[in-house]
Amino acid sequence: MTNAYRTHTTGQLGRKNAGEQITLSGWVHRRRDHGGLVFFDLRDGDGLVQIVCDPSSDEAVHETAAALRSEYVVRVEGLVRERPVDARNPNMPTGGIEVLAETLELLSSCTPLPFQVDTEGASAPGEEQRLKYRYLDLRRPEMRELIVLRHEVLRAIRENLNAQSFYEIETPVLMKSTPEGARDFLVPARISRGRFYALPQSPQLYKQILMIAGMERYYQLAKCFRDEDSRADRQPEFTQLDLEMSFIGRDDVFRVTESCMAQVVEAARGEKAHLPFDRMTYAEAMRRYGTDKPDVRFGLELAHIDDLATSSGFGVFKNAVDGGGTVRCIAVPGGAAWSRREIESLEKIAKTYGAKGLAWFKLSEGLASGGISRFLSEGEVAEIRKRSGAGEGDAVVFVADRESVVCAALASLRNHLAQELNLVDRSDLRFLWITDFPLFERDDANGRWQPSHHMFTLPAGEDLDRLESDPGSVLSHQYDLVLNGWELGSGSIRCHRADIQRRIMGVVGMSEDEAERRFGFLLRALDFGAPPHGGVALGIDRLVTLLAANECSMRDVIAFPKTLSGVSLMDAAPSAVDPEQLEELGLELVEENDAED
Ligand code: AMO
Ligand code: AMP
Repeated sequence: MTNAYRTHTTGQLGRKNAGEQITLSGWVHRRRDHGGLVFFDLRDGDGLVQIVCDPSSDEAVHETAAALRSEYVVRVEGLVRERPVDARNPNMPTGGIEVLAETLELLSSCTPLPFQVDTEGASAPGEEQRLKYRYLDLRRPEMRELIVLRHEVLRAIRENLNAQSFYEIETPVLMKSTPEGARDFLVPARISRGRFYALPQSPQLYKQILMIAGMERYYQLAKCFRDEDSRADRQPEFTQLDLEMSFIGRDDVFRVTESCMAQVVEAARGEKAHLPFDRMTYAEAMRRYGTDKPDVRFGLELAHIDDLATSSGFGVFKNAVDGGGTVRCIAVPGGAAWSRREIESLEKIAKTYGAKGLAWFKLSEGLASGGISRFLSEGEVAEIRKRSGAGEGDAVVFVADRESVVCAALASLRNHLAQELNLVDRSDLRFLWITDFPLFERDDANGRWQPSHHMFTLPAGEDLDRLESDPGSVLSHQYDLVLNGWELGSGSIRCHRADIQRRIMGVVGMSEDEAERRFGFLLRALDFGAPPHGGVALGIDRLVTLLAANECSMRDVIAFPKTLSGVSLMDAAPSAVDPEQLEELGLELVEENDAED
């Protein structure tokens, strides 16, 4: 677009423009005063170009240039000229040219910066400062690239699903609570005092109702809100690609999702994804990797040794198996050379997952040594080597405990080792569907059954008879999409029959009254001719993080993210509100001390 501010943007310029009179506007990125000459790099939305301010050609320009500081905003009119060969900068797309300034107008100045925007060659500023001055942080080219990458991902998703005949439909943000296992953010309703909207944890119920409404193919790039503790891969506010289809089976959802992801990978990386994505049952994933979101870019699979443990001379192993637990181990490549301290650092990680310890031995010169090796026979060592894939120069580490503890500890050690030993190639994208999840899992805290995904998932038909009598054995039509060890998405074929839906609500301990109060609207809708339907939701923030060319945090791919304590440092949300606002809403704050009484 040509206007008074610019005839070009920097990214459009090259040697072809030499000799042209042009106008540019942007920020002073980097300024150098070479005696008489002032040079600066002008940065705009798509790059940088060098501006030369020469007192011999224009005194006024040179004076203005001498007063420029980083991040001032300027408008420059001037002549594009080729740089002498020895002054060319091969690292800059516009490094073959420069602009001789003939008019230099200051549009905005900039107060002293909390950190430099020009971080080339320097380490990035601290994250607290970056979040507080997010507008400056986003000016940094590497941050800008991530926001643009996110845009490309969203664009590819929309293009793909529109072409696959999906409708983009918005669902409410002020709504009745939809449980996805987290706490709701509540919004008091001024006009209906004492009542609250909930912000959506996901559009789950609305999308199902859209199917009942006959929309057949729905998608939305939906903002979701969950009041839970933030983690590296969780934000209280995040975006899902949410989709739902009618008259389909699981494989249709897989095909649509795979086509969409392939287009995203092409747009983001210029690469072809391997289609169809691999599949693995939940049971196999737990057995081989100890987790339902395995990173399959590397091996280090869990070896099961319960049969050896029962006869082993190591009491910890025998007791664990006799008590209903299990013993599993993984190889540590090169671990024979590790110091005791290094092995203890692995034990510390295992203990954060509830393990009581981490047993180990090393393999060198054809023999097992150290740790628990003295409790094991040669035959047992040979068998453990075979099952774990450990070889000469490696170590083997073991956890003996309840199955859930063993799996959690070893799965986490596996990921830690991959990182530590550089076993994975970041550019490799390994999508994997995990299928056949159990419908319920038992809540350790209160012994109750709870849905392992959410309670709208259809039980496997052949297991329906056991829904009430043996809920733990019932499989479901749930699936997850895993990418490089992250849960990227989850979905299922839903209960389209109200009677089955009611039975599931019963198994998770909901009375008929409660089911009616919370989900009466869904149950009623299901009574009016609901089509078989199912869908999936993928986390966009996680997807973009994994697609980024360089390692980055999920906060880096969100324009205005929250810290791990849920705070937006730039605008200081959440913040206190005026007493009048509370009064209007009929709310009163209770002092924390009073609340404990
Ligand atoms: P689920 O709760 O598994 O399923 O969410 C789907 C995907 O959303 C992403 N996600 C998050 N991303 C960032 N921060 C968070 N706090 C966060 N929580 C979830 C993850 C996750 O895989 N309604 C169902 C989907 C369905 O059944 O169709 C749902 O929301 O990538
Ligand atoms: P101890 O007999 O407690 O001195 O432990 C001997 C070794 O076994 C140490 O390396 C402990 O870390 C390890 N260990 C103890 N309990 C367990 C367990 N439940 N699983 C695996 N290793 C364990």
